[in-house]
Amino acid sequence: MRIDIVSIFPEIARGPLGASIMGRAVGAGRVRIDFHDLRDYTTDKHRQVDDIPYGGGPGMVMKPEPFFAAVADLRTEQSRVVFLTPQGTPFRQAKAAELSRCEHLIFLCGHYEGVDHRVIDSLVDDEISIGDYVLTNGTLAAAVVVDAVVRLLPGVLGDDRSSEEESFSGDGTRLESPHYTRPATFAGLSVPEVLLSGHHGAIAKWREEKGLERTLANRPDLLGRKGDCQEP
Ligand code: ADE
Repeated sequence: MRIDIVSIFPEIARGPLGASIMGRAVGAGRVRIDFHDLRDYTTDKHRQVDDIPYGGGPGMVMKPEPFFAAVADLRTEQSRVVFLTPQGTPFRQAKAAELSRCEHLIFLCGHYEGVDHRVIDSLVDDEISIGDYVLTNGTLAAAVVVDAVVRLLPGVLGDDRSSEEESFSGDGTRLESPHYTRPATFAGLSVPEVLLSGHHGAIAKWREEKGLERTLANRPDLLGRKGDCQEP
């Protein structure tokens, strides 16, 4: 897979995508990630990327020309163009899985009050929000989406079952059960007996019950959401 990230602050994404599993995925050639400064696609002396909004109002709006130039430069037949914005559709595991099957992703990152809407109408395939809060910049959001996508590529996680058995995989209506490791007792706190029993049936049943308990406590909304997180 190839990924291009276009931003006025590409360095925001470089750190998180260069370390740990992402860094290894790049090093092993599973994905190539290129970072582009949107200002490199301006043509004026001041490298201006924003301007005042038509119709008035606070803040600045990102100009269309640099985004059009960037996409013209980077897009191929196989490209999918993603714009990160709090006005996008909520990012879920199903979208991560869908994007992980693409050959080439271009992430356009906004800043300021917004972007000239002709960018979204003419260039963008997916508008994505990573949650109901507003960041200063879409670049962090792009790094979050790239991480969620790249970890699903074959061979990126040590054990491909890790991504099959986790929260939001499968039908996406249950959180994972709690995990424990050694020691069996620590500071007077014991690991649940059943996990030490070696009884696979009992362990599977316990995990299912605990996953449901956690879902009821932390994310009851998931239970009524059948299919919403599901892989297409
Ligand atoms: N840019 C600013 N806030 C964002 C959010 N919540 N998701 C995606 N992009 C954003």
